[in-house]
Amino acid sequence: MRVLAARRGLSAAALAAAGHQLRDAVLAAPEAQMAGTVAAYLSVGTEPDTRGLVFALWKRGSYLLLPLLRPDGDLDWASYEGPDSVAAGPRGLLEPTEPPRGVTAITSADLVIVPAVAADRQGNRLGRGGGSYDRALARVGPGILTIALLHDGELLGPEQAVPAGPLDQPVRAVAQPGEGIIRVR
Ligand SMILES: Nc1ncnc2c1ncn2[C@@H]1O[C@H](COP(=O)(O)OP(=O)(O)O)[C@@H](O)[C@H]1O
Ligand SMILES: [Mg+2]
Repeated sequence: MRVLAARRGLSAAALAAAGHQLRDAVLAAPEAQMAGTVAAYLSVGTEPDTRGLVFALWKRGSYLLLPLLRPDGDLDWASYEGPDSVAAGPRGLLEPTEPPRGVTAITSADLVIVPAVAADRQGNRLGRGGGSYDRALARVGPGILTIALLHDGELLGPEQAVPAGPLDQPVRAVAQPGEGIIRVR
C-alpha cells in the first residue's frame, strides 16, 4: 500500500520530528489542556513517535490510559505512571505494566488519541486490520474528541475515501505534523 511504502522510507529522525510536531499540536488543543483523563498509545515501527506526547500529557497532570492488546484483538487499558511503567508486550508493542482496568476504562477518557495508517475527510480511519480501535472507539461517548495521528499526506483528499463498513468507527479529528489538528466531523 502506498502509505505504508512511504512510511518505510522515513528515518528515525523523521519519526521523532513528526512526533515533536504532533505533540505540540495536541498539547495546544483546548480539549487536551482541559482533559483530566487521556487515552493514548505508544507508537511502534514507522508510526509518528508518541513517546514525547504521552510523557508531556502525563507531566502536565493528565491521567493517561494506554492500551493492552488482548488475545481477542480488543483493547484493555492501564494507567501510565511515567517512562518506567511500560514494558515490551505482544507484536512488538510497548505496554503499560500497571493493573489492567478493563476494556470499558476508555469510557472515562476526556480525549482519545489513536493510531491510523490513513484517514479520509469523513474521519474514516484505516487501521492495521485488527479492528482493535473500532472496538475501543465504539465505547467512546459522542462529545469526546477523538484524534487519529498521521504523517503528512496521510489525510486523503476530498475526492478519496477510506472504505468503511458497519463496524468501522470514525474519528472526529486527525493531526498531521505539518498541518496540526483538522476536525473532520
Ligand atoms: N466493532 C467490532 N467488533 C468486533 N469485531 C470487529 C469490530 N470492528 C472490526 N472487527 C473485526 O476486526 C476485523 C478487522 O477490522 P478492520 O476494520 O478491517 O481493521 P482496522 O480497523 O484495524 O483497519 C474485522 O473483520 C472484524 O472481524
Ligand atoms: Mg476498521
